[in-house]
Amino acid sequence: MKIALGSDHASFELKEYIKVELGKMGYAVNDLGADSEKSVDYPDYAIKVAKEVRAKKSDYGILFCGSGLGMSIAANKVKGIRAALCNDLYLADMARRHNNANILVMGGRVVGKGLALEILKKFLNTTFEGGRHQDRLDKITKIEENQI
Ligand code: RB5
Repeated sequence: MKIALGSDHASFELKEYIKVELGKMGYAVNDLGADSEKSVDYPDYAIKVAKEVRAKKSDYGILFCGSGLGMSIAANKVKGIRAALCNDLYLADMARRHNNANILVMGGRVVGKGLALEILKKFLNTTFEGGRHQDRLDKITKIEENQI
Protein backbone atom coordinates (compact mmCIF):
# COMPACT_ATOMS: atom_id res chain seq x y z
CA MET A 1 0.00 0.00 0.00
CA LYS A 2 1.26 3.46 -0.94
CA ILE A 3 0.68 6.59 1.11
CA ALA A 4 1.20 10.21 0.05
CA LEU A 5 2.35 12.65 2.72
CA GLY A 6 2.17 16.43 2.85
CA SER A 7 2.67 19.09 5.49
CA ASP A 8 3.38 22.74 5.98
CA HIS A 9 6.15 24.13 8.20
CA ALA A 10 4.03 23.82 11.36
CA SER A 11 3.90 20.04 11.12
CA PHE A 12 7.08 19.28 9.21
CA GLU A 13 8.58 17.51 12.22
CA LEU A 14 5.48 15.34 12.73
CA LYS A 15 5.42 14.44 9.02
CA GLU A 16 9.05 13.35 9.18
CA TYR A 17 8.33 11.22 12.24
CA ILE A 18 5.28 9.57 10.65
CA LYS A 19 7.25 8.95 7.44
CA VAL A 20 9.82 6.92 9.34
CA GLU A 21 7.13 4.99 11.23
CA LEU A 22 5.25 4.18 8.00
CA GLY A 23 8.49 2.86 6.52
CA LYS A 24 9.04 0.64 9.55
CA MET A 25 5.50 -0.74 9.10
CA GLY A 26 6.26 -1.62 5.48
CA TYR A 27 4.23 1.05 3.67
CA ALA A 28 5.53 2.71 0.52
CA VAL A 29 5.62 6.47 1.10
CA ASN A 30 5.50 9.35 -1.37
CA ASP A 31 6.57 12.48 0.50
CA LEU A 32 5.30 15.53 -1.40
CA GLY A 33 6.82 18.07 1.01
CA ALA A 34 7.28 20.45 2.70
CA ASP A 35 11.00 19.87 2.89
CA SER A 36 11.84 22.02 5.91
CA GLU A 37 10.39 24.23 8.64
CA LYS A 38 10.65 27.28 6.38
CA SER A 39 7.23 28.97 6.19
CA VAL A 40 5.06 27.71 3.32
CA ASP A 41 1.35 27.81 2.39
CA TYR A 42 -0.61 24.70 3.31
CA PRO A 43 -2.94 24.73 0.24
CA ASP A 44 0.06 24.08 -2.03
CA TYR A 45 0.67 20.76 -0.27
CA ALA A 46 -2.99 19.87 0.23
CA ILE A 47 -3.57 20.00 -3.51
CA LYS A 48 -0.49 17.87 -4.29
CA VAL A 49 -1.61 15.07 -1.98
CA ALA A 50 -5.28 15.34 -2.97
CA LYS A 51 -4.43 15.05 -6.68
CA GLU A 52 -2.19 12.07 -5.98
CA VAL A 53 -5.02 10.27 -4.18
CA ARG A 54 -7.65 11.30 -6.72
CA ALA A 55 -5.45 9.89 -9.52
CA LYS A 56 -5.12 6.66 -7.47
CA LYS A 57 -1.33 6.96 -7.53
CA SER A 58 -1.52 6.54 -3.75
CA ASP A 59 -4.07 4.55 -1.76
CA TYR A 60 -4.34 7.15 1.00
CA GLY A 61 -3.01 10.59 1.78
CA ILE A 62 -1.95 12.02 5.11
CA LEU A 63 -1.82 15.78 5.56
CA PHE A 64 -0.50 17.76 8.51
CA CYS A 65 -0.66 21.43 9.41
CA GLY A 66 -0.74 23.27 12.71
CA SER A 67 -4.38 22.62 13.58
CA GLY A 68 -5.29 20.31 10.70
CA LEU A 69 -8.07 22.71 9.72
CA GLY A 70 -6.48 24.41 6.75
CA MET A 71 -5.31 21.18 5.15
CA SER A 72 -8.73 19.56 5.52
CA ILE A 73 -10.57 22.58 4.10
CA ALA A 74 -8.20 22.77 1.12
CA ALA A 75 -8.06 19.04 0.32
CA ASN A 76 -11.84 18.73 0.39
CA LYS A 77 -12.07 21.15 -2.54
CA VAL A 78 -10.79 18.36 -4.80
CA LYS A 79 -13.46 16.10 -6.30
CA GLY A 80 -13.47 12.60 -4.87
CA ILE A 81 -11.49 13.60 -1.81
CA ARG A 82 -12.85 12.86 1.63
CA ALA A 83 -10.27 14.40 3.93
CA ALA A 84 -11.01 13.87 7.61
CA LEU A 85 -9.45 15.89 10.41
CA CYS A 86 -8.86 13.33 13.13
CA ASN A 87 -7.14 14.61 16.22
CA ASP A 88 -8.40 11.67 18.29
CA LEU A 89 -8.90 7.92 17.92
CA TYR A 90 -12.70 8.01 17.80
CA LEU A 91 -12.65 10.31 14.79
CA ALA A 92 -10.09 8.14 13.00
CA ASP A 93 -12.34 5.11 13.55
CA MET A 94 -15.45 6.93 12.31
CA ALA A 95 -13.62 8.54 9.39
CA ARG A 96 -12.95 5.12 7.94
CA ARG A 97 -16.01 3.12 9.09
CA HIS A 98 -18.66 5.68 8.15
CA ASN A 99 -17.03 8.22 5.83
CA ASN A 100 -14.57 6.09 3.85
CA ALA A 101 -12.08 8.93 4.24
CA ASN A 102 -9.20 8.74 1.79
CA ILE A 103 -7.07 11.42 3.42
CA LEU A 104 -6.24 11.58 7.11
CA VAL A 105 -5.48 15.05 8.44
CA MET A 106 -3.81 15.79 11.77
CA GLY A 107 -2.70 18.95 13.51
CA GLY A 108 0.86 18.91 14.74
CA ARG A 109 0.07 21.66 17.25
CA VAL A 110 -2.80 19.57 18.64
CA VAL A 111 -1.56 15.99 18.82
CA GLY A 112 1.78 14.68 20.03
CA LYS A 113 3.81 12.07 18.17
CA GLY A 114 2.54 9.14 20.22
CA LEU A 115 -1.13 9.96 19.71
CA ALA A 116 -0.57 10.78 16.05
CA LEU A 117 0.91 7.32 15.49
CA GLU A 118 -2.06 5.64 17.21
CA ILE A 119 -4.50 7.71 15.14
CA LEU A 120 -2.62 6.73 11.99
CA LYS A 121 -2.74 3.01 12.85
CA LYS A 122 -6.46 3.22 13.64
CA PHE A 123 -7.12 4.95 10.32
CA LEU A 124 -5.10 2.48 8.25
CA ASN A 125 -6.49 -0.62 9.97
CA THR A 126 -10.19 0.27 9.92
CA THR A 127 -12.51 -0.81 7.11
CA PHE A 128 -15.39 1.11 5.54
CA GLU A 129 -18.76 -0.42 6.46
CA GLY A 130 -20.54 0.48 3.19
CA GLY A 131 -24.34 0.01 3.07
CA ARG A 132 -26.23 3.10 4.23
CA HIS A 133 -22.93 4.95 4.60
CA GLN A 134 -22.19 4.41 0.90
CA ASP A 135 -25.64 5.83 0.05
CA ARG A 136 -24.71 8.99 1.94
CA LEU A 137 -21.35 9.25 0.21
CA ASP A 138 -23.16 8.88 -3.13
CA LYS A 139 -25.17 11.97 -2.17
CA ILE A 140 -21.93 13.86 -1.54
CA THR A 141 -20.70 12.79 -4.98
CA LYS A 142 -23.90 14.20 -6.47
CA ILE A 143 -23.28 17.50 -4.71
CA GLU A 144 -19.79 17.58 -6.24
CA GLU A 145 -21.17 16.81 -9.71
CA ASN A 146 -23.70 19.64 -9.48
CA GLN A 147 -21.17 22.30 -8.48
CA ILE A 148 -20.96 25.27 -10.86
C1 RB5 B 1 0.34 28.01 10.15
O1 RB5 B 1 0.68 28.96 11.10
C2 RB5 B 1 -1.08 27.52 10.41
O2 RB5 B 1 -2.00 28.52 10.11
C3 RB5 B 1 -1.35 26.28 9.60
O3 RB5 B 1 -0.41 25.30 9.92
C4 RB5 B 1 -2.69 25.61 9.82
O4 RB5 B 1 -2.93 25.37 11.16
C5 RB5 B 1 -3.84 26.24 9.14
O5 RB5 B 1 -4.99 25.81 9.25
